[in-house]
Order: sequence, then C-alpha cells, then structure tokens
Amino acid sequence: MKLNTTKKIKYSKTKSSFRFQKFNILLLMACVLMISCNKDDTATTEMKPAIVETVTDISNVTVTLPEATGKELVTTNCIICHSLRYIEMQPDFPKKTWDKTVKKMVKTYGAPISDTMVVNQIVDYLVAVKGKK
Ligand code: HEC
Repeated sequence: MKLNTTKKIKYSKTKSSFRFQKFNILLLMACVLMISCNKDDTATTEMKPAIVETVTDISNVTVTLPEATGKELVTTNCIICHSLRYIEMQPDFPKKTWDKTVKKMVKTYGAPISDTMVVNQIVDYLVAVKGKK
C-alpha cells in the first residue's frame, strides 16, 4: 500500500511538470508573437512624419495691458509668479469672477498683497480692462 502511494505521487509530479513545460512553451510562443507584433508597430511609427516643435523664447512674448488706473499695481504685484499673459489671455469676466481670481492668488497661491485697498484697486483695474457688464 505504502509503495503504491509514493508511486502515485511521483507520477503526478512528472505529469504536473510536463504541464508546466507545456505552459512555458505556450508563454514563449505568446512572447514571440507579441515581440513580432511590436516590431510591426515600430515600423509604422517610423513611417509617420516627425513632430516639429516650435520653441517660443519667453523674452519674445510681449504683453500689453491697456492703460487704466491701477495698472502699476497689477504690473508690480502680479508678475512675481507668472507672466502677465495670464491676465491678457483671459476672456472678459464679471467683477465677481475677477474678485475671486485675485483673492485666489492671495489666499491659495500666496500673492503677498495684504492691503485690501490694493486688492480692490487691482480688481477695479481688471474690470476696467477685461470686465464683462
Ligand atoms: C504667489 C504667486 C502668484 C501671484 C503673486 C499671482 N499669481 Fe496668478 N496664478 C498663480 C498660480 C500658481 C496660478 C495657476 C497657474 C496654473 O494653473 O497653471 C495663477 C493663475 C492665474 C490666472 C489664470 C486663471 C486662474 O484663475 O488660474 C490669472 C488670470 C491670474 N493668475 C491672475 C493674477 C493676478 C491678477 C495677480 C495679481 C493680483 C496674480 N495672478 C498674482 C500664482 C500667482
């Protein structure tokens, strides 16, 4: 009886290792297939024209904010972190939106404008040049 069990185990071991080998061969075939498919992909990518990049020199970007009361405050306070293009490229906003934007610059991003008078003057300027009635 005892011998019989050992034999059984041995048999099942060889069977499973054979199965494993079969699986390995399948895996290898799948890999080869994937690699060959990949090669085809690279071939088609190489056929595509190269992407042409246009590099913009930041010093060539000119911003012309309109003249109005408070422009000086905007140009000095709002250029610390980003270009004034951020203001120029915005659409016309109602006063409420500009107020929210300027307060976001102060509260969220940390623009060092502690004087509410200055904040109001900046908002007034923004409404004057990019305001929506
Ligand atoms: C402490 C740094 C800082 C200062 C000073 C600052 N900003 Fe900003 N501003 C930011 C950051 C950060 C963003 C977000 C950039 C992004 O989303 O790519 C931003 C974005 C903006 C935008 C784009 C729209 C938006 O709401 O994100 C506008 C308009 C703007 N700022 C206006 C101003 C004005 C007006 C002032 C002057 C009162 C100012 N900023 C000062 C940091 C600052």
